[in-house]
Amino acid sequence: TYMVEGGSAKNFARCKRLMFDEPALLPYTKNVVYVKDFQAGEITREKIRLFSLRGKSQSPKVEKIRWDIESAQKSGFPHFMLKEIHEQPTVLKHLVASAKKLDNKLARILKSANKIVVVACGTAYHAGIVGKYAIEHMAKMPVAVDLSSEFRYRSIIIDNKTVVIAISQSGETADTLAAVREAKIKNAKVVSICNVVGSSLTRESDFVLYTHAGPEIGVASTKAYTAQLMVLYLLAINIAKVKGALSGYTISRYQKILANIHNQARLILKKDLPALSRVAERHHNFGSFLFLGRNVNYPSALEGALKLKEISYIPAEGYAAGEMKHGPIALIDEYRAVVCIAVNSAIYEKMISNIQEIKDNKEKIVIIAKEENKHKKV
Ligand code: F6R
Repeated sequence: TYMVEGGSAKNFARCKRLMFDEPALLPYTKNVVYVKDFQAGEITREKIRLFSLRGKSQSPKVEKIRWDIESAQKSGFPHFMLKEIHEQPTVLKHLVASAKKLDNKLARILKSANKIVVVACGTAYHAGIVGKYAIEHMAKMPVAVDLSSEFRYRSIIIDNKTVVIAISQSGETADTLAAVREAKIKNAKVVSICNVVGSSLTRESDFVLYTHAGPEIGVASTKAYTAQLMVLYLLAINIAKVKGALSGYTISRYQKILANIHNQARLILKKDLPALSRVAERHHNFGSFLFLGRNVNYPSALEGALKLKEISYIPAEGYAAGEMKHGPIALIDEYRAVVCIAVNSAIYEKMISNIQEIKDNKEKIVIIAKEENKHKKV
């Protein structure tokens, strides 16, 4: 048994270190004792002891690391991020297949709520915006989305009729934990969406929905993000059920769509990677990127820009396409590439007219669209 640090990460760096610690231990043990805030520990050959800061002896709780050694290795991929991108279809398939009947406790929490506030940071925050669109569309319930670091220092108006959904891959992000504590002081109920079993966030929540994506070792979030989206869509359906906002027919239509997402993800990874590599080769020297999207693809644009910044160190910005004309269009010549997300949806035509606004320099535009629209002229 090893004792590892892990009560609550004070900052991002420490939190990422925690994520690396567990896989590093796997060749030796799966037994871990997490040290909580205000606890101290001692390991000797014979035993493990835990104390409160006042020196009172406390019994160590031995927990099992759930990852296996296979999931902490690169399995033939050149790096973890690529491996984790390729794990998405399996993760998404598993999430839909294991979606159970709505838990009674969660149903009670949702039933008594008249408002939802999502708190999260970074990529998880982008997932939260998609969640807002999905829950408002399906369950007809008001949802606000806040960056945890803003929520915790603002005069927030929440009460015991508010459900705070905290999204975090690691469950150790300090701002999200602080936001959750703030929410609890105000008597809101906390439902968390988290990947790491036993993390601080899961311990402090009233209810936990796990993303079950396996360890995310790559620094940039990939499979955890798509898993968060899937959990949010499944949750939106459940809220719609509880609130009676959708007919049984519409619910089963949505469920069928979700059950097929993993096949679509697999197809993209199989078929589109060569085209994606070509675009990357053509554009990798470009100094700045703009990502545009509307509706649920507005957060996709934010996420695309974040991934490019993090992984390629290329300045990138994500924008709601409809907002372009309100200022940013003045800068359009400065962006060397504009990535437009124009998948089929109710606002497809709107997106096309946004693309047309980028009149000159059409060759810098990269469009993400359905194959059937390949030959349509923009
Ligand atoms: C981006 C990324 C970060 C995290 C953010 C929140 O690729 O990984 O933006 O999404 O730091 O981390 P969690 O989800 O662990 O709270």
